Amino acid sequence: MTAIPPLPPGSVIGMLGGGQLGRMTALAAARLGYRTHVLCPDLDSPCAQVTDRSTLAAYTDHAALDAFATQVDVVTYEFENIPYETVRHLAARVPVRPGPDGLAVCQDRVAEKDFANRHGIGTAPWRAVGSAEELAAAVAAIGTPAVLKTRREGYDGKGQAVIRDPKDAAAAWQQLGGRPSVLEGFVDFARELSVIAARGVDGSVVCYPAVENRHRDHILSETIAPAPDLSPERAEEAERIARTLVTALDMVGLLAVELFEARDGSLLVNELAPRPHNSGHWTQDACACDQFEQLVRAVCGLPLGSTARHSDAVMQNLIGDDVLRWPEFLAEPGARLHLYGKGAPRPGRKMGHVNRLVPGPKLHK
Ligand SMILES: Nc1ncnc2c1ncn2[C@@H]1O[C@H](COP(=O)(O)OP(=O)(O)O)[C@@H](O)[C@H]1O
Ligand SMILES: [Mg+2]
Repeated sequence: MTAIPPLPPGSVIGMLGGGQLGRMTALAAARLGYRTHVLCPDLDSPCAQVTDRSTLAAYTDHAALDAFATQVDVVTYEFENIPYETVRHLAARVPVRPGPDGLAVCQDRVAEKDFANRHGIGTAPWRAVGSAEELAAAVAAIGTPAVLKTRREGYDGKGQAVIRDPKDAAAAWQQLGGRPSVLEGFVDFARELSVIAARGVDGSVVCYPAVENRHRDHILSETIAPAPDLSPERAEEAERIARTLVTALDMVGLLAVELFEARDGSLLVNELAPRPHNSGHWTQDACACDQFEQLVRAVCGLPLGSTARHSDAVMQNLIGDDVLRWPEFLAEPGARLHLYGKGAPRPGRKMGHVNRLVPGPKLHK
């Protein structure tokens, strides 16, 4: 195998998507001397505010994509719902990391669960559903309560309906617009965890420790790092799942794995994200190398950084009006405030986060 030469500092990273994840990746890239060129359809994107190059274009604008491809050295993305065709189109012209094949799996909840199961990794019981009749059959097979989710494009609980009684199935199907979906058995989990793995061009993998995630209104509210009272065996199992998946998906970049910790202690994969993840923001202030720098290192072919942490941490998301309390967070000793440069707070909108460190006596592995 011939080694792929690294892209040296000064190279240009193309970023698809202009949200806060792209912004924080661009900031990490700048710290290492890279430039970022963002392509997104949104005016005044949080990412474009911090890059010197941006293209305002639809993801389907082939002329804009072709021009973008000539101006960047590698392409990555900060959200998995970039149209697959866009990523394929670019991948024929410039390295795209993670590549289109792994992305295709992560864009489709059915492909994702099927992929995990085929690698011996558990999920909630599930059935693909393409019609109201198939949904009725799936509800009969899986039982209630169950969750109907669109196969594609859901986030923050959007595109989901809980079915508590079989007679609610038709209404749930209507509510989601009759789109191709997956029915999942409702998991009575003890808590939700996640693990972020990074994989380099040479196939090496590093993982951040499993963290606990608490949600409010289906939106991540708080991440506790590392997950309290997680046995070493279970922590290792969570990491093994992330390593297995990022390697089997042949990804270069980051893979975030959302898990349910079931009451019997087993770990079930909920969903995968081939990008930086909100539950990894704590690494910015608590780790030798945070998830954003790790992504930059991976896609540029650099050696991966250490995931060791000097502190435990709690990350609090600032959603909607929470952000108005910024003076309070600034005044709080030890609180690290991160704001995304978004305009008006709206309910459910992620505006920033606060990391609070719980210092430890030594560097933890
Ligand atoms: N099968 C399930 N059983 C129990 N809770 C679920 C199930 N699926 C999703 N949830 C809850 O809904 C949240 C959002 O669902 P998820 O599939 O992660 O979609 P997204 O994060 O894209 O909105 C999860 O974090 C979890 O709290
Ligand atoms: Mg989720």
